[in-house]
Amino acid sequence: MADLVLKKGRIVFPDGIREGDVVIERGVIVEITPDYKEEAKRVIDCTGKYIFPGVIDAHVHMRVPGGEYKEDFTTGSMAAISAGVTGFLDMPNNSPPIISKKMLGEKRDLIGDNSFANYGFFFGATDDNVDEIKRLSNIAGIKVYMGESTGNLIVRKDETLENIFSHGKFPVVVHAESQECLERFAAEYAGEDARARSDYHSVVRPPECAREAVKHVLHLAKKYDASVHIAHITTAEELDIMRKFASEKVTCEVTPHHLMFDTTSYEKLSNRIKINPPVRSKEDVEALWGGISDGTISIVASDHAPHLLNEKDAPYAECPAGVPGIETILPVMLDAVNKGLVNLDRVAQLLSQKPAEIFHIKNKGKIELNYDADLVILDMDLEKVVENSKLLTKCAWSPFEGMTLKGWPVTTIVGGDVIYEDSKFVSARRGREFNFEE
Ligand code: DOR
Ligand code: ZN
Repeated sequence: MADLVLKKGRIVFPDGIREGDVVIERGVIVEITPDYKEEAKRVIDCTGKYIFPGVIDAHVHMRVPGGEYKEDFTTGSMAAISAGVTGFLDMPNNSPPIISKKMLGEKRDLIGDNSFANYGFFFGATDDNVDEIKRLSNIAGIKVYMGESTGNLIVRKDETLENIFSHGKFPVVVHAESQECLERFAAEYAGEDARARSDYHSVVRPPECAREAVKHVLHLAKKYDASVHIAHITTAEELDIMRKFASEKVTCEVTPHHLMFDTTSYEKLSNRIKINPPVRSKEDVEALWGGISDGTISIVASDHAPHLLNEKDAPYAECPAGVPGIETILPVMLDAVNKGLVNLDRVAQLLSQKPAEIFHIKNKGKIELNYDADLVILDMDLEKVVENSKLLTKCAWSPFEGMTLKGWPVTTIVGGDVIYEDSKFVSARRGREFNFEE
């Protein structure tokens, strides 16, 4: 007997939407059929709703260890699940950063069974730890910061990049802002007057620093035929470079906040929208939507980077860069579907299929026979206002606060278990570490 049948839903496949029933047994999709007639332990009527592959957020900062007062695996994963994110890939810029096999092991111990969502980890590259990489297994990839951001992880030497690329066992994710360029601009704009402008952060970390880094890293990647994923691209110039280099092995992502905010957003949000890389011009935002439509951008990831509001509302120099986003990534993209900016099946590629493919996550990211039943039921007509007081992230705020979004997840299923429905957690089931194919 089937464990669960999702009946009469509009099923979102990567290549289109077709109505039918999804049949689940032992956590796996065992049948997709127009009308399932056998018995099942539970049937959910999905009439008028969409069945969507669980979102895999490929870029999050859960803050364990060292930043647990901002977010931990329990709060962060509950925020995720409540908003349709069934899996996440966690970044290594913790305190201390995850730069040895031993530290990665300790992080695995810390997550224990605290996460409601499935998960995987990135490993942080430094100029001294390339040998450690050879000892790792089952990781999402290597994270390289070319410019300094929250956490002070950085790779300064070309030689290190070449060593990492030639190793080739894991995908390499790059935070592409050139440190040399950032230092040049910091020196140029060091005066008080410059700092008084509301868009200072975007001026002092300009598009050319991103362009220089992307160009440089993609030339090196080409030399070694390496798998490289550029995190959070933000500018038309980076897209132009990506159009020349993009392939199955060279991919990039964009965040919802870079798609929704621009340099005029500082007026309302001030340092709350201080992020690395910074928000850009309206023209850049338009170009990013173009990259979504034409396929140059493979992934939308949240770069969930929680900091408390008292930290974010501090003066510029003390305010840490980063915004939370794991709880809004799906509704923001569904709202964009309702506004006609992107198709729902394309959103399934950007949020679920491509993250699984690029990071080689086994049996995830698609509604397909024998794939894991990590699924979300969507109500595309539901309208809700984003309210700080209702969020589950420990940092308790969102840059999207006050916005009405149309299109929300209403039920979240992980491994065939209904975890979240009617705005409540209904199962104690915990997530598992992804299996990464090497
Ligand atoms: O704005 C950012 N915040 N950019 C990063 O690269 C790191 C992140 C964080 O961890 O807070
Ligand atoms: Zn990040």
